[in-house]
Amino acid sequence: MSIAKYTVTAALPYANGPLHLGHVAGVYLPADIFVRFLRMKGHDVAFISGSDEHGAAITLRAKKEGVSPQEIVDKYNGIIAKSFSDFDISFDIFHRTSTKIHHETSQDFFKVLHDKGKFIEETSEQYYDEEYDQFLADRYISGECPKCQNPSAYGDQCEKCGSALSPTELINPISTLSGKTPKMKSTSHWYLPMENHEVWLKEWIENGILDGVQQHKPKEWKNQVVGQCMSWIDGGLRPRAMTRDLDWGVKVPLPGAEGKVMYVWLDAPIGYISATKQWALDNDKNWKDYWTGDRKLIHFIGKDNIVFHAIIFPILLKDHGDLILPDNVPAYEFLNLEGDKFSTSRNWAVWLHEYIESYPNKIDELKYVLTSIAPENRDSEFTWKEYQTRINSELADILGNFVNRALVLTQKYYDGKVPKRGNLTTEDENMIVDIQNSAKRIEELMYAYKLRDAQAEAMNLARIGNKFLAETEPWKLIKTDEERVKTIMNFALQITANLSIVFQPFLPVTAEKLSEFLNFKSTKYSSAGDMNLLPAGHSTEKPTILFPKIEDELVENEILKLKNPMNSNFEPQKDEITFDDFSKLDIRLGKILTAEKVEKADKLLKMTVDMGIDQRTIVSGIAEHYSTEEVIGKTVQVLINLAPRKIRGVESQGMILMAENENGELSFMFPEKDFGKGGDVR
Ligand code: MF3
Ligand code: ZN
Repeated sequence: MSIAKYTVTAALPYANGPLHLGHVAGVYLPADIFVRFLRMKGHDVAFISGSDEHGAAITLRAKKEGVSPQEIVDKYNGIIAKSFSDFDISFDIFHRTSTKIHHETSQDFFKVLHDKGKFIEETSEQYYDEEYDQFLADRYISGECPKCQNPSAYGDQCEKCGSALSPTELINPISTLSGKTPKMKSTSHWYLPMENHEVWLKEWIENGILDGVQQHKPKEWKNQVVGQCMSWIDGGLRPRAMTRDLDWGVKVPLPGAEGKVMYVWLDAPIGYISATKQWALDNDKNWKDYWTGDRKLIHFIGKDNIVFHAIIFPILLKDHGDLILPDNVPAYEFLNLEGDKFSTSRNWAVWLHEYIESYPNKIDELKYVLTSIAPENRDSEFTWKEYQTRINSELADILGNFVNRALVLTQKYYDGKVPKRGNLTTEDENMIVDIQNSAKRIEELMYAYKLRDAQAEAMNLARIGNKFLAETEPWKLIKTDEERVKTIMNFALQITANLSIVFQPFLPVTAEKLSEFLNFKSTKYSSAGDMNLLPAGHSTEKPTILFPKIEDELVENEILKLKNPMNSNFEPQKDEITFDDFSKLDIRLGKILTAEKVEKADKLLKMTVDMGIDQRTIVSGIAEHYSTEEVIGKTVQVLINLAPRKIRGVESQGMILMAENENGELSFMFPEKDFGKGGDVR
C-alpha cells in the first residue's frame, strides 16, 4: 500500500486584526504540528493557508479605521504573515484572497456551478439600511440568535453556538451600520439549494460513505463536528444566498450582476485552491495533484467554522465535480484568557506579534504551553500562572534537566564521547520497551489528531529518562561501578537522541538545539524508539540551558498589562506619516459666532465660525457635550481644507478638532492664551 498523501489547510484568518493566542492554539499550531509530523513520516504534504480579505469583517474594520478596505487587508496581512513566519508556522504558502489568481479561480468556480444549474436565482425582500443605502447581510446585521438566545448573533452566524443563520432568522434585528431597525427592500441573488443535499451529507458525515465508497471511518471525526453538522441537517437545510450586494469582494461573473459580489464564505474556502495554484506555479507543480485523486484533504479550523467546512464547502466541491472532499475536519473549541473570552474590542488578548516581540527566545515555550492546554474537545483557558508552571516544572525540570544531566555528565566522565554499553539489566530491558511503546503511542495519537496527548507522551519519554537517572544515580555510582555508569550514560544519550526526534513537530527550535548538542539529526519519525541512534565513541557537545525558569515578575507584568485600563480603551498608533503628509492639513484658529441645534439630530450643532479669511458654516457632532450658549464666542481649532460634506442637508465647510477621553467625552482644544482668530496651528 502506498503511503497516504495530504493537503492540509488552516482556516484563512480575516485580515482585519492581528492574531491572538486563541487563534494560534485552536488552528495554526495544531495544524503545524500535524504537518511537521506527516513530513517526518514521509507523506507528501501541501500545507496551505492565507488571509481572508473579503466580507464585512474587512469593510467594517475599514470604516472604523477610516481607510479603504485595501489598506486594511494590506496592513493586517503584513502583520499576520510576519507573525506566522516569526512563530515558524511551516506553511508551504500563505496566500491572499485579494489576488488576481484568487478572483479568477473563484469566478471560474462560480461559473462552473452556475452553468451546471447548481444555483437558483431568486428575488426577495431583504433587510436594508436606508441611512447607509445598503443591504444588510452577514455582520452588517445583528440580533438575537433563535437557537441559543445569544443577543449579539450576526446575520450569517451565531458565534456563540456556531449555528449558521440568515438575517431573517434573527430576533429583533438591527443594522450594525446605523444601529437602527432595518427596512425591507427587494433584490435578487443566487442561492445554493442546500436542502437537496441532506441525504448524501448525512451518509457521508456520519458513516464516511460518499457515492457508495467508504471514505473516512465512522466515529473518526470528532463528536462535536458530527454533532453540530447533524443538528443542523436535522433542523432542515435551506437555500443559502451565495452572492451579496456589496462593492468589496469577488465580482459575480455573470451579465447583469453589476454591484454583486460572491458571498465571502463562498470565495474564502476557494482560497485554499487558489493558494495551492499559486504555490504550484511557484514550485513547478500541478495544483490538481493536490485536489484530486487519492489524497486526504484535512481542514484545521475553529468550531465557529464547522458548518462552512463540513457542509457548505463540501456541497460546493461535490457540485463542482473532479475535486476531493475533506477526509477530516479537526475543529477546535475556544481558548479563553485569564477567566474571560478573548476580546479584540476590549483588548483582552495576548497578541502573537507582541509576545514574539517581548520574548523572541521563548517561542517553543509558548508552543508547548498552548499545545498542553489546546481546546481539543472543550473550551480551555490560558493563564500566565499556568504558563509559568508548565515551563518551570515540565520543560525546565523534566526535559531541560534530563538533557542537561545526560550531556554534562558525558562531558565530565567521557570528554563528550558516547560510552559503550555493557550487559543489560531487566530494568534496562523494560525501559527500552517503555521507550519504544512511547514512540509508537505518539505516532498513533498524532494520526488521531490527539496532539495534546501526543505531546504529553513525548514529555513522558523525557520523564522516563529523568526517572532512570534519578534511580540509577550515576553521579554516585561512578565511584564504585564505572562499567555500569557507561551503560547508564549510553542510554541517557540514546533517549536524548530520541527526544530530538519526537519533539521536532512540537518544539522545532529545541529539537534543533538537541541535534546540535548531540551532533546528530534525524528527520525521520521511523527512527523514534531506536536505542542505537548514537554509536559508541560518537562526540557530543557541551549543552546550554534549554529553558530558563520563568520568574514571578514576568507573570505579574503580563497580568498587569492585561488588566491596565489604559490598555483597553486607546487605539494603537496609526501608520507613520511624513512631514509632507502633515503639512497638507490646514488647521487654524476660528471664533464661533453663532450656534444652533440641527433639527431632528440630537448630536449635531450648526455653527458659523470666523476664520479671519472668511466665515464658514460648520456642522459638528458635539451637541451632547456642549450647549449653544457654551460654544458661542469660543476660539477653537478648525481643519479648514477638509473637502466640504453635506450633513443632514447642511454643507459643512470644515471640521472642529476635539479631544476624546477614555469615557468617550469630547472636549474642545482652546488656545492656552487669548489668541484671537485666524492663527495657524502646526
Ligand atoms: N476568515 C474566517 C474566520 O476567521 C475563516 C475562513 S476559512 C475559509 O472565521 F475556509 F473560508 F477560508
Ligand atoms: Zn446561537
